[in-house]
Amino acid sequence: MCGIVGYIGRRDVAPLLLEGLQRLEYRGYDSAGIVITGKAAAGKPGALKMVKAKGRVRELEAKVPKRFAGTTGIAHTRWATHGAPSDENAHPHLDAENKVAVVHNGIIDNASELRARLTADGTVFLSETDTEVLVHLIARAQADTLEEKVREALRHVEGTYGIAVLHADFNDRIVVARNGSPVVLGIGEKEMFVASDVAALVAHTRQVVTLDDGEMATLKADDFRTYTTEGSTTTATPTTVEWEAESYDMGGHDTYMHKEISEQADAVDRVLRGRIDDRFSTVHLGGLNLDAREARGVRRIKILGCGTSYHAGQIGAQLIEELARIPADAEPASEFRYRNPVVDPDTLYIAVSQSGETYDVLAAVQELKRKGARVLGVVNVVGSAIAREADGGTYVHAGPEVCVVSTKCFTNTVVAFALFALHLGRIRDLSVADGKRIIDGLRRLPEQISEILANEDEIKRLAAEYADAKSMMFIGRVRGYPVAREASLKLKEVSYIHAEAYPASELKHGPLALIEPAMPTVAIVPDDDLLEKNRAAMEEIKARSGRILAVAHQVQEKADHTIVVPKNENELDPILMGIPLQLFAYHTALAMGRDIDKPRNLAKSVTVE
Ligand code: M6R
Repeated sequence: MCGIVGYIGRRDVAPLLLEGLQRLEYRGYDSAGIVITGKAAAGKPGALKMVKAKGRVRELEAKVPKRFAGTTGIAHTRWATHGAPSDENAHPHLDAENKVAVVHNGIIDNASELRARLTADGTVFLSETDTEVLVHLIARAQADTLEEKVREALRHVEGTYGIAVLHADFNDRIVVARNGSPVVLGIGEKEMFVASDVAALVAHTRQVVTLDDGEMATLKADDFRTYTTEGSTTTATPTTVEWEAESYDMGGHDTYMHKEISEQADAVDRVLRGRIDDRFSTVHLGGLNLDAREARGVRRIKILGCGTSYHAGQIGAQLIEELARIPADAEPASEFRYRNPVVDPDTLYIAVSQSGETYDVLAAVQELKRKGARVLGVVNVVGSAIAREADGGTYVHAGPEVCVVSTKCFTNTVVAFALFALHLGRIRDLSVADGKRIIDGLRRLPEQISEILANEDEIKRLAAEYADAKSMMFIGRVRGYPVAREASLKLKEVSYIHAEAYPASELKHGPLALIEPAMPTVAIVPDDDLLEKNRAAMEEIKARSGRILAVAHQVQEKADHTIVVPKNENELDPILMGIPLQLFAYHTALAMGRDIDKPRNLAKSVTVE
């Protein structure tokens, strides 16, 4: 949530920062700003030059003057927390003398208290943001070096931050610090970058250093050093980013959402690659850090995630129960951490997250670890906070997901859960024959996904048919229910059509009252042991003149329309049944002229509570 990018080197900094902001815009897009260090005149430090704009990065770009030269700068794209989107509240923020500039991701919890104290001492605030207190604290710090000034200011601050700081009197450096909000350094040739996300760096360098919480860094054009907020030096070992810059581009598609939906056959192929062991009809997941004896000792599994990742976790829990016969359930991490959960030593906890940054998930992991639990991560972004905090886990290898609305990562996360469930099952009581059956099913997935995607024109036609709905119901039973929930979330996020998901079995307990021709239902109807039950639910809807779009393995007579998807093994069907509904949501939103990659009020990584 919010994006930071900074540069120090020899190149003209403004175009570099604006390009970096474009790449980070998916993290927040209500206002943006840039500050650079101007050229120093004889004997005088260069003053800071700043431009800010409410709206998208393109609005900022239009405001940047032609003469805006400099080789050091920091920039920010915002998702509002404290104060409405406006020029004043956009970052960077400056002190009264225009000497200190700060960009900040995260939330300063004691901002009101600090603001009151600073105001009483005569400081005039120009914005409503929590960040501005940090600027004034740095400006007032008595220390001699910028590093010490920042450290002194941070001592007063409670909360989360990823910050980058410029100071006109120390214009040979950028000082950055991290606590709970990602900060990545990009190491170039006689130039250094900093960003909240590698997406802003990979076009220039793939050599990166990810700061830990409690770590700071000083970037100069020729070198960098890292140290703790207490001042002791730390060792920073650069790693190479797995993905090329092109992976972050739209690659010929009109939106990232369409690109990411279209990539799913390859993405699933990637999560399977090198993991299947035909000899023992099982899979190997390298980073689990859970040996066979420990796996046999697990009595329960609790999966924690938010939004789409929570839905993927719900399917994961079912896969674990079906294949490994271990009681498992999923819960929103955001709720779990606030209910003083009973942490049981025989329960294995799994944190699920695309970004690996979601604050509610990270905080749940930290709370669990504090209570001595073992926590695995199922994460997409390599080296992210949750991946690093977990005791082990697996990456889902979906590749960079830029659209705010998650699609390919959902699919890959569910496949990763299928692998994990198979692994646990084969350590316990799943037979060789069943192991082989699931492996064969997994191998069929990429081709079946391509088959579903080839049906896009028909799905687009159906989307146009239902785009007039003010509200939609999504139903499914057992395996189909989390698919219905995820499909309903997709539709509302991207099209803003109200959508509800219910277990089909619950219809008659209340929601049936909503059914009428203007409230269409999407029914998930797999060819499994619940087929007749699902047909009965459709019957109930038809009897109330409801329109039905079914996603099924064969044409459903009770439905007005059916999207037919290829059949896999019963346990793996949920992986495929959601994919046409991603396209359905996409085409509905497109027909309605929505801003598909950046839905209103949302941002990709929710790094605040
Ligand atoms: O990065 P995470 O998977 O932890 O994110 C969790 C949710 O914020 C995320 O899935 C959100 O619901 C998406 N907008 C779904 O499309």
